[in-house]
This record gives sequence, structure tokens and C-alpha cells, in this order.
Amino acid sequence: MKKLFTSILLLTITVNLAQEQVQDTVYHNEEKMQWFKDAKLGIFIHWGLYSVNGIDESWSFYNGYISHEDYVKQTKGFTAKKYDPQAWADLIKRSGAKYSVITSKHHDGFALWNTKYGDFNAIQSSTAKKDVITPFVSALRKNNLKVGIYFSLPDWSYKDYTHFTRDSIRYKAEEQPERWNKFLTYYQGQLKELSDNYNPDLYWFDGDWEHNSEEWQVPKVRQMLFYRNPNTILNSRLREQGDYATPEQGMPITRPKNKFWELCLTMNDSWGFQKNDHNYKTTDQIIGIFADVIGNGGNLLLDIGPKGDGSIPEEQVEILEGLGRWTNKHKEAIYGTRSGIPKEHFYGPTTLSKDQNILYLFVKGNPNGEVVIRGLKNKINRIWVVGEGTKLSHQVIGKVFWSHYPGINYIKVPEHVLDENMTVLAVLLDGKVDLYREDGAVIESN
Ligand code: GLC
Repeated sequence: MKKLFTSILLLTITVNLAQEQVQDTVYHNEEKMQWFKDAKLGIFIHWGLYSVNGIDESWSFYNGYISHEDYVKQTKGFTAKKYDPQAWADLIKRSGAKYSVITSKHHDGFALWNTKYGDFNAIQSSTAKKDVITPFVSALRKNNLKVGIYFSLPDWSYKDYTHFTRDSIRYKAEEQPERWNKFLTYYQGQLKELSDNYNPDLYWFDGDWEHNSEEWQVPKVRQMLFYRNPNTILNSRLREQGDYATPEQGMPITRPKNKFWELCLTMNDSWGFQKNDHNYKTTDQIIGIFADVIGNGGNLLLDIGPKGDGSIPEEQVEILEGLGRWTNKHKEAIYGTRSGIPKEHFYGPTTLSKDQNILYLFVKGNPNGEVVIRGLKNKINRIWVVGEGTKLSHQVIGKVFWSHYPGINYIKVPEHVLDENMTVLAVLLDGKVDLYREDGAVIESN
């Protein structure tokens, strides 16, 4: 019996260890992830043929809303006439983002850089007749922004790729291995070009659902990219063999288990430019989401969709400028911080300085005179309004000498210090944040 118990115990330990190792290999290398963890905000760019007519990126022909032939006709309208890569990079910098991820090729297979693989690209097949990725990458680097390249694994226009539209699949990879190999050479060749030309800080893969890891040859691809740059970061859409998770549109409400994650989010309801889509989130709402994301330890990758001529829609510029005003004022509470304290202690998003000595409270709207922190065991040394400077006073209510219960902190917040979008308060503690998490006690002697 004892023997059986010991082997069950051993088995459990082995299983747990194995699970930890899997977790480790999927999300690994703390050191190389540092810049990403500190960056908090990135700008996603969906630019391609779909921007011309203002229809769904790639999916419009895949789902049969338009024929492939008509979809491809958009190459005419892809002029990039007003494209100013330096102005793009400047705007991104002003928004407070520390990195940007641009679509080098979406599922439609239209490549935006000068690829030697095939001729379906901005240089050979569009009115623009130029490589639009190279100057953007240079402008980002010039502005000291990290470079992310989005790359779709599926290429629905390529004649030797398996999938074409929802109702028509060209062939099955396992049935025609030679044909599939042709595609592998093609897509991996393109990836090698991107890695040789741009040495991206980050690769943002997409579309891995169409084949398994073996079919995509994920280990080989990883090896190729890491050979060029062992510190490059891969998102997890590589059959989960990347460095960080990418929840899409739906903001996680509870803190995700993954240490490294990034929410990708559209400003309206579309990734690419769509002239009929005016359902924009307000700057206020985007700032609110951003605060929730960083409070839970993630990054926000906020999307813009430039038009076919390379201009960025006015509504999107406005949001980025508004976001920039707010991030610039509150930078100390954003960059390099870590996820905050559990919501029971403060009813809103919070972040912590790396040393955990400063707690940042994100206060939405007008708190009617005071905000409350519950169960904070630390002594508060000072409180100030971030980016504004006013020092605030506080009062501890209900502390009892005979228990660890630290009472409730009330911080007075006068109306004149409030920010137009979201106010941030910095609370300097007497040491690392220390929270009361007990059930409460009964007095034993009065
Ligand atoms: C989805 C869609 C794609 C979009 C991407 C952004 O995977 O296929 O159109 O580019 O999400 O996260």
C-alpha cells in the first residue's frame, strides 16, 4: 500500500515537473522579454489590398463576399501616393507606443516588401511599384522604436498552397507532399528574406490554425529565426511555440496565467481601413482598456488601418494623439511597471513600480472627493498626482491595535487635479507593497 502511495506521489511529481517544463519552453527567456514587458503599448498596422475598397482583409474573398479576381483588382488602387513612413513612425512615437507591428503579408498573400518569391507584391503587382516595408522599418529604428513584422503563414493566393476559399481547398498536404514542399520552400524563403533584411525584434505570426506544427515545420522555422537573432521574440500563433500569448479583441477580465501577453485590439470594428466603419471606441474607452491591460500585466497592441494611398484616417490620428497626451503625462505609472494589486484592495486598475514601492492607482472619472485603498499594511509616505504634481493627504480609518488589520485608507482628491481622461495617483510606500489577506480576527482581551 505504502509502495503504491509512493509511486502515485512520484508519478504526480513527475507529471507536474513535466508540465512546468512545457510551460517553460513555451514562454521562456525572461531576459530577452524585458523590453517587451516594459513597453506596454504597441501599434498594429493592417495595410494591404483590402485598404483600397475598404473590405475585410483577405477574408472578403475567402468567405465569398467578392471573387478572388475582383479582390486582386485592388492592386490598381494600392498607390501609396501619400505614404510618408517617417510621419507614420513619428505619430506612433507620439502615441507613446514603444513598438509597432506591420503586416508584411496577410492571408491574401500580397507581400509589401521586395520579395524574390513570386510576383504578387507591392513592387511588381501594384500601382505603388515600391517596397513599403523597408522605409518604415528604417523610420521606426530612427525613432528608437522596436520593429515587429506580422506574417501570415497561410497564403490563399499562392497556387501551391492548400486552402483557397472556404468552399474550395486545392489539395491536402498529406496527399501531395511534393506540392506542399514547394509551398514550404516558398514561405520559409520569404521569412528568411524578412529576417535577413530587417532583423525584426518581434515576429507576429497569424493563421497557424490551417496546419499542425509538423506540417508548418515550426521547429525548423524557429531555428532559422533564432539563428539570425537569438533574442528575437515570437508571438504564440506558431502552434503555441512562441514567447507570448495574443488574446484578440476580448480583453481578459481576470489576470491571464501567461506571464507575457498582449491584447490586440481594433479602434473600430475592422483591422484594415473600411470607410463605412465609424464605430470607433473613444479615446477615453481606449485609455480605460489600456489601464486594465497593464494593470493585469499585459501589453496593448492597438490597430490602425491606413488607406490604399498611405494616408491614415483622421479618426485614427486623433485617437493616437489623444492617447499620446495621456501616456506622456502618466509615463511613470506605465512604462517599466508591473501588474498591480488584487481588485479587492482598490476598485480599479493599478500598477506597481519594479521595486514594488510605488503603487499607482488609475482613477476613472470624478471620485467625488476621495478614493479608497483597503487592507494596505504599509505606511504611506507620500501621495501625489502623476504628471501634475499636487501632493494629496490621506486618512486611515478603522485600524485596530490588537490585530494585523491595517484599516482603510481614504485619499482626498480635489476636483482641480483630475485628468480629462483618467487620473493617476502615485502612492509611495515605506517598502515593498504588503497586503492584508486574512479573514479577520476576534478580539481576545479588551
Ligand atoms: C485574425 C484574422 C486576421 C487579423 C488578425 C489580427 O487572426 O485572421 O484577419 O489580421 O486576427 O489579430
